[in-house]
This record gives sequence, structure tokens and C-alpha cells, in this order.
Amino acid sequence: MPRPREAERGAREVLDPVHYDFLAGGAGDERTLTGNTDAFARRRLRPRVLRGAGTRDLSTDLPGARLAAPVVVAPTAFHRLAHPEGEVATARGVAAAGGLLTVSMMATTAVEEIAATGAALWFQLYVQPDRGFTAAVVARAEAAGCRALVLTVDSPVRGRHPRDERHGFTTLPDGLVCENMRGPDGRARDLVTDPDLGWDAVDWLRGTTSLPVLVKGVLHPADARLAVEHGVDGIVVSNHGGRQLDGAISTLDALPAVVDAVAGRVPVLLDGGVRRGVDVLVALALGAAAVMVGRPVLWGLAQAGADGVRAVLDDLTAELAHAMALVGAHRPTDLTPDLVVVP
Ligand code: FNR
Repeated sequence: MPRPREAERGAREVLDPVHYDFLAGGAGDERTLTGNTDAFARRRLRPRVLRGAGTRDLSTDLPGARLAAPVVVAPTAFHRLAHPEGEVATARGVAAAGGLLTVSMMATTAVEEIAATGAALWFQLYVQPDRGFTAAVVARAEAAGCRALVLTVDSPVRGRHPRDERHGFTTLPDGLVCENMRGPDGRARDLVTDPDLGWDAVDWLRGTTSLPVLVKGVLHPADARLAVEHGVDGIVVSNHGGRQLDGAISTLDALPAVVDAVAGRVPVLLDGGVRRGVDVLVALALGAAAVMVGRPVLWGLAQAGADGVRAVLDDLTAELAHAMALVGAHRPTDLTPDLVVVP
């Protein structure tokens, strides 16, 4: 069964190379993409000893969800490129691992069908210039039982992906559609990125839904402060897995200033480059309440469907519990910044 890091190699063997590059690739020269994993590789741990950490409790409270472990599946588009069962298989794997799946607005399966698996769900949203349409998508996510909305704010324009440009990969293969983008006429709309989007979009969304709202794609502490002032329920420090602004700071390097700015008022999550349980541990020690994981889940999905997703998530959690024992931590709140050094 695939492990988070090794899973990529196996997935590459089974995927169409064009689709592999779409899933794996990043923007520009992929400096930010590699920067995310490099930032974790630069950190070393300074463990505590003789703390009797024989039993660990990894449970974590997040908006709308109590999780067995501080790991959430990030929203990623087009799971049916990775596996014919697409998001349904992902959701089954997530449910089997007792996790939480953030359904992408660009999913190739309808949120109602994903919800029917019984998996705990958040729903990711891009606010569209047509607010009526956006509100209808929100209403679908609510009716399907999603427990929070994750508003992605790092995409005023689309990132440029050289790998996709090289392949001429611009449209989904026949038969695949963004099922959550269907309008009242049943036709799937194209995603509109809106460079004019401002903080009023957050206010509007909060007025449209009773669900908790997280913003995803914050890197600057001033934006984290603004997000809290606009009443969000959580912040995801993210650079979209290096797929938007190439040259953006790695998320792990961005995390401490955001955590300081937020000062415990709402949970701060991090995604980008989390590949090992030790990476989760480092992010938590530097103040993240939980991490999101993107590509490793897609690699598990590509290789073995729901079982592959479950294996990737179970492995991350097991590695985290093991590493916590080795640094002397019983629970995530025992993980403090002094445990992490850059030698
Ligand atoms: C993404 N990501 C993303 N984010 C989002 O808010 N909505 C989306 O539809 C997508 N789609 C998407 C597709 C693919 C193929 C990837 C790899 C990523 C970004 C995603 O939520 C997350 O921020 C990153 O994937 C985290 O980085 P890692 O874990 O992949 O390194």
C-alpha cells in the first residue's frame, strides 16, 4: 500500500503522463513547489526526554469537526483524472481513515454523491462574480452536510503551469465535468477567477451561510489579521501547493508570523509540502492547529483508489504518533516551537 512519499513514484507509473504532470506540477520554475518541501527538510527536532509519552491523544477540534488526528485532505480538482472512481473513492478512503475531506469546487463528482459516502466534508469555494450562482453552490454544499466552507483567496488570476502548456493540456477529457459548477440549466459553468475580489467577498459569504468560513491562501500576517477582523473561523496558510505565485514564500516559513498575528483567536492550518508525520509534527510545533495534505492523497488514489487514500492517511497519522513519542509529546498541544531548530 502506498506511503505518502513513495506513493508518488507508484502513481507516476499508472497515470497518463499528461495527467501526472497536471497533478504534480506547479507554477513557473516550480521554486515555490520545491520550496515547500525544502522548508521541512531544513528543520531539525530537539526532542525532550523522559516525559512518559507512552499514550498519545492526537484528537483535534477544528471548525465543524472533531478529528482523530490533525490532518485534513486539501481540496484538489479533478480526482477522476487520478482514478475512475474519483472523489467517491477519495471520500471512502478518508471515511475509512476517520478523516475529513475538503471537496473542491472543481471536483469531477457532485458534492451530493461525495457526501453519500458518509465522509466528513468541508467544501472549498471560489467566489464567482455571479453571486447568485455562488450562493446556489453554497446552498448545495450546506444541504449535502458539509461542515464548513473554505474560501480560496490566492487565485485572483490563474497560475501559469509550464508543464500543462507544454502538453497543451487545457480542457478536461471527454465525459469529465466540474459537477459542482452546474447552473440551474444543468450546464457546467467555467470557473471565473476574479482579480477584483476584495474582503467584502468574505463579508458577503459570511452573510450567506451559517457554516463556519475558513480562508485558504494567506501568507502575510497583515492578511491574517484582516481575516480575523472579518470574522473568519480559521485560516489556512497556503501557497496553493506552489501552483499560483511562483516565488512565494514556503508555507512553513510563512507560518510563525501568521500564528503570531492571529494570537490564538482562530485555528491556523498549513498546507504545502507535508509528506511525513515529522512534517506534521514540525507544523504543529510552529503553531498550526492541523495540516492539509494535497498531492500525497492523489498519489494514493491513483495507485489504489479508496484503499490507497486510506493507506496514505493512516501512514501519516502513525508516523506522527511515533514521532510524538520520540519528542516526548502526549498531545498536539505539547508540541512547542522550542522543539524545532534550523541548524
Ligand atoms: C490543488 N489545490 C487546490 N486548491 C483549491 O483551493 N482548490 C482547488 O480546486 C485546488 N486544486 C488543486 C489541484 C491539484 C492537482 C493540486 C496539486 C492542488 C491546492 C491544494 O488545496 C493545496 O493547497 C496543495 O495541494 C497543498 O500542497 P501539497 O500537499 O500538494 O504539497
